[in-house]
Amino acid sequence: MENHPPVRVERRAVSEEESRRANGPDWDRYADEYQATHGEFLGDAGFVWGPEGLTEAEARVLGDVADRDVLEVGSGAGQCSRWVRAQGGRSYGLDLSMRQLQHSRRIDLETGAPVPSVLGTATALPFADDSFDVVFSSFGALQFISDIETAVAETARVLRRGGRYAFSITHPTRWMFPDDPGEEGLTASQSYWDRTPYVEVDDETGRVSYVEHHRTLGDWVALLAGQGFVITDLREPEWPDNHERVWGGWSGVRGQFTPGTAIFGATYSPTTTP
Ligand SMILES: C[S@@+](CC[C@H](N)C(=O)[O-])C[C@H]1O[C@@H](n2cnc3c(N)ncnc32)[C@H](O)[C@@H]1O
Repeated sequence: MENHPPVRVERRAVSEEESRRANGPDWDRYADEYQATHGEFLGDAGFVWGPEGLTEAEARVLGDVADRDVLEVGSGAGQCSRWVRAQGGRSYGLDLSMRQLQHSRRIDLETGAPVPSVLGTATALPFADDSFDVVFSSFGALQFISDIETAVAETARVLRRGGRYAFSITHPTRWMFPDDPGEEGLTASQSYWDRTPYVEVDDETGRVSYVEHHRTLGDWVALLAGQGFVITDLREPEWPDNHERVWGGWSGVRGQFTPGTAIFGATYSPTTTP
């Protein structure tokens, strides 16, 4: 929930098409600032799961990626996929924002470690069935999607049986609190069970310019189990001591009390052939 004034904030239902039409251009507008602000922390070939700084090298949620076909959904500038390549995996990026992918290409050229990437959306993956051993998202795509059932079904479709699915999202309990890194952000002000999306509307045009969707922990369990996934991990990284970073609503002030990031790990084990 970054601010892009002049906008007014609403809570209301939005379709998948409306979410995509808002978030693609929003990420195009925001990409330069995002990479300038967070690029160093992310590392050109680094894999962090969230603002707490937990790395995949520490977490090992994906399992062994060497010699595996790997898809990153919501890949941004491809930092995580570049790390996967450095471990011997064949990773590919997919993102809704052309400007994010241009940053990915810039880092490809600067590092000489390219990540083949494609413009697209998580709800219509441009890949054949059974193409990948691992699909992952580090804060990519999932909370920007209305039609999350289709996104998870698409992941299941492109994964091989026994493949891994892992993703990080804003911890669902954060939905209860204002998006404020200070003390004010510690007082619950809305219902955990209210799934009504967070919507920013451009004051001048009246168009929806940014959307975030919320699901509870139980929603995620039902979504994954319903598509043939067996959940193996739910990580809730603690805020490290002496970690000074403030990232949107994430900070040491809040991190002492409440989790900011949830990382799910699951294995694709359908009981019937799709
Ligand atoms: C918070 S960034 C995370 C990017 C990268 N994983 C990182 O850690 O920097 C979220 C990314 O999701 C992408 N995104 C948003 N909606 C998407 C969708 N429907 N399909 C694919 N990517 C999407 C955005 O363009 C953006 O690059």
